[in-house]
Amino acid sequence: MSELATATDSVNLGQGFPDTDGPAELIDVAVAALGSGQNQYPPSAGTPQLRGAIAAHQRSWYGLDYSPEDEVLVTTGATEAIAAVLLALCEPGDEVVMFEPTYDSYAACAAMAGATVNLVRLNPPEWTFDVDELAAAITPRTKILLLNSPHNPTGKVFDGPELATIAEVCAAHNLLAVTDEVYEHLVFDGAHVPLATLPGMAERTLTISSGGKTFSFTGWKVGWVCGPAPLVAAVRSVKQFLTYTSGAPYQLAIAAGLAFAPEQMNLLSAELAAKRDRFCDGLAKLGFSVYRPSATYFATTDIARIAPGTDAVTFCTVLPERCGVVAIPSSVFYGPSGGGETLVRWAFSKRDEVLDEALVRLSGWFG
Ligand SMILES: Cc1ncc(COP(=O)(O)O)c(C=O)c1O
Repeated sequence: MSELATATDSVNLGQGFPDTDGPAELIDVAVAALGSGQNQYPPSAGTPQLRGAIAAHQRSWYGLDYSPEDEVLVTTGATEAIAAVLLALCEPGDEVVMFEPTYDSYAACAAMAGATVNLVRLNPPEWTFDVDELAAAITPRTKILLLNSPHNPTGKVFDGPELATIAEVCAAHNLLAVTDEVYEHLVFDGAHVPLATLPGMAERTLTISSGGKTFSFTGWKVGWVCGPAPLVAAVRSVKQFLTYTSGAPYQLAIAAGLAFAPEQMNLLSAELAAKRDRFCDGLAKLGFSVYRPSATYFATTDIARIAPGTDAVTFCTVLPERCGVVAIPSSVFYGPSGGGETLVRWAFSKRDEVLDEALVRLSGWFG
């Protein structure tokens, strides 16, 4: 879609990345590291500075205690963490339960590990799930429940009762939990609660996150996994042969960012909340049915009313030519049984003038 955006000179609201850089002081840290000899392989598990900063972050934000020595592993983005965790923990034939729509790397990584995916549907407008459907998705072969909260593509933040249900299910079926929390600091409504903070969950949960979204440096690809030492050791042994280690200067910069005071950390979510409102209000004025997200970079619209009889794939294929705007059909986030046929995902993590330009262009079709 990004290639299509370039080819048609479109406003690209497809891929989820911000179009402004993160804090200049973090760039300064990375530049200083590049200029002061921090350019060789750092320790495979991550620099001591970053592992220490991740452990301190988990403690101060969530009261979770991890040893930087053996319960924290730095990865090349959350993407590597997801792959390494599934490759480390799954045997061929194991099953992984996850909520649908899903971030696209989960099923691909489960397949690489020889595991099968069982999907539990999130239903709009609140993207709630049916507890019986969750129970039915679990079989004796189920090993992992993978939870993405805050959730891409829906922007849902799983709430306390939902997390309690998920924790109960994990305990009842002796499942490991893997959580993808890359949008943990981009929350507008409600609060992000890591599943590992629920009673009995820290010992069965691997928590994944990344500095890319939190600090608007998605190109730096610094992620991490925290969890019980034996599980982290298994993930580390896979990372050894995926990337061995991850870029040293960026690790030092993200370590500096994780030490930000909460007010500084919350600046981006306040900015993004305003962008969410600007863009969602604009789409609603044009007649779109908008599912306003509680977090992340993404808003979802249902096009059934505004483009009757058109599915989202056709809509998103025509949109660049017709209006000069790129968006993503949410059906790509659904499994083999289909779903989301009339849903479109829009990334609003862009400068205000870019969002306004997209709305002006859309008004040419829908105004
Ligand atoms: C839910 C989710 N997990 C993981 C990632 C990948 O994170 P990273 O860039 O740190 O590899 C993304 C990026 O879009 C995401 O949306």
